[in-house]
Amino acid sequence: MFLADRLNAELVELVEAQKRRGLTGFLKSGYQAVARRASELEGKPWEKIEGFDKLYLMTPIWGGNGTPAMNRFVRKADFSGKEVTVVTFQSDIKLKGSEKVHSTYKEIIESRGGRFMKGIALHSTLPGKFAGKEYIEAQVEDSLLK
Ligand SMILES: Cc1cc2nc3c(=O)[nH]c(=O)nc-3n(C[C@H](O)[C@H](O)[C@H](O)COP(=O)(O)O)c2cc1C
Repeated sequence: MFLADRLNAELVELVEAQKRRGLTGFLKSGYQAVARRASELEGKPWEKIEGFDKLYLMTPIWGGNGTPAMNRFVRKADFSGKEVTVVTFQSDIKLKGSEKVHSTYKEIIESRGGRFMKGIALHSTLPGKFAGKEYIEAQVEDSLLK
């Protein structure tokens, strides 16, 4: 929302059809991410990018991979003529595995007609915790708005 506001951009949220709850939800999420599964999303968010030429795909890293929600989105979206930047968030301060996630999405984006601009790895916090608005916004500012 911060980035969308600052860029005067449209925010498209990926909302999963099925909620994730508790420990079972956490374990399932990890398993699905490792297996690079895609989840059902509410609506057709990929249709909302028609007519835009710059996209920022933002996702947490789960189990060293992207998320099932983002996997669905990139496998459905038509990126033709679009410049795409991938931004990941994760709890590991060393940002382990982020390059692999960026390159996996790069491959899919390019195979669907897009131009991958860059992958940006940002630090968030542990699952269930909130890193803090200012902490996240400062990193977005430094990496994307300067
Ligand atoms: C199922 C699951 C798996 C995760 N796996 C990783 C991981 O492999 N590496 C990492 O740095 N952080 C991992 N995390 C931490 C998340 O990346 C972090 O909590 C997330 O960026 C917070 O953003 P959110 O509040 O938007 O979910 C994992 C979190 C969850 C829930």
